[in-house]
Amino acid sequence: MVTITLIEDPDGAQRQLFDDWAEVFAADGRHQFGPDHTAHSADELREMGRSTARHRIAWAAVHDDGTVVGSAALMLPQHDNLAQALLVAVVHPDHRRRGLGTLLLTHLEEAARAHGRSVLLSETQWRVGADDEFGEGFAAKHGYAVAQTVLRSSLSLPADRARLEAGLQADDADGYVVRTCWDGIPDAWLAGRAELSRRMSTDIPMGDLRLEEEHWDEARVRDEYERIGRMGRRVIDAFAVHEATGELVGYTQVQVPRDHPEVAFQQDTLVMREHRGHRLGLRMKAASTLALTEQSPETASVRTWNADDNAPMLEVNRALGFVNDGMMREWQKVVPA
Ligand SMILES: CC(C)(COP(=O)(O)OP(=O)(O)OC[C@H]1O[C@@H](n2cnc3c(N)ncnc32)[C@H](O)[C@@H]1OP(=O)(O)O)[C@@H](O)C(=O)NCCC(=O)NCCS
Repeated sequence: MVTITLIEDPDGAQRQLFDDWAEVFAADGRHQFGPDHTAHSADELREMGRSTARHRIAWAAVHDDGTVVGSAALMLPQHDNLAQALLVAVVHPDHRRRGLGTLLLTHLEEAARAHGRSVLLSETQWRVGADDEFGEGFAAKHGYAVAQTVLRSSLSLPADRARLEAGLQADDADGYVVRTCWDGIPDAWLAGRAELSRRMSTDIPMGDLRLEEEHWDEARVRDEYERIGRMGRRVIDAFAVHEATGELVGYTQVQVPRDHPEVAFQQDTLVMREHRGHRLGLRMKAASTLALTEQSPETASVRTWNADDNAPMLEVNRALGFVNDGMMREWQKVVPA
């Protein structure tokens, strides 16, 4: 028999249970991508569980013999998008097609409803060249519709330096400069950074996802940098600055896990709509990649995710040498509130 157990004390009495819960995500990652998977470590997940921006609830599906055979997580945004819930249901590859996935998903949906959430989101991923077998079969069967398809792309490092330096060049003195920062930003930029995050939440291709604008202020930006630091990650930001006004008009961020710096993660990239067309996306990504190459020589690859219809971003990636090596799909189900 399998029991669904709420994990309330991941640092204390349920530490081992939490580690076993996290291991299910790693087992699923290895099953789909081999060693090249991107599942978070238990310690990263423990830290993510402390986020005040997204309330996270974890449950383990535990077999009578104590084995964790499935893991579920519910993520509830706290600042905005208050109708939304992200549902994660993963069954260990050795225990599939026995109804456990359905058990976990049903549990998550009931919990989401109890928290008043009606826009339910979930993700599936697969290797390039394979099929989205779980999504097509499982998510669709449970009433989820495809809201967006996302490409995972990786750039092997050290990248072609000449290519990066060419990417960094402005066509002429066009009034913008690109600046990079490691592990935090000057206080004077916190408000500008908050505005960029607000814009990032709506000013990118969103497919059919029902997402609302996010609320950002200086305190939330500061919290976010502190949280990433506590997750054991270093951060490189590249900013596009409009010289005449000093305004931050674009950014990209790369995170490097201190314990496993071999793979770095390129997170958000945005150029404000009114400042597009100056190759700022390319210049910022080239700058962050050069900084990474110089200051984190152990990093062998940088990985990023972009919507399949985000032609300008994908074009920037191609110009820098990124190769598409994975796929992800966002599924959505809207239930009565
Ligand atoms: C998706 C997942 C959770 C399903 O877990 P599971 O325990 O095998 O699911 P269930 O046994 O409850 O399957 C219920 C039904 O979903 C469908 N289904 C599940 N896996 C499927 C697959 N690989 N291909 C086609 N249909 C599938 C089937 O209709 C199945 O019923 P059946 O076995 O009677 O044919 C599991 O494969 C997994 O962990 N995948 C990786 C993570 C993921 O993609 N999560 C889904 C987020 S929506």
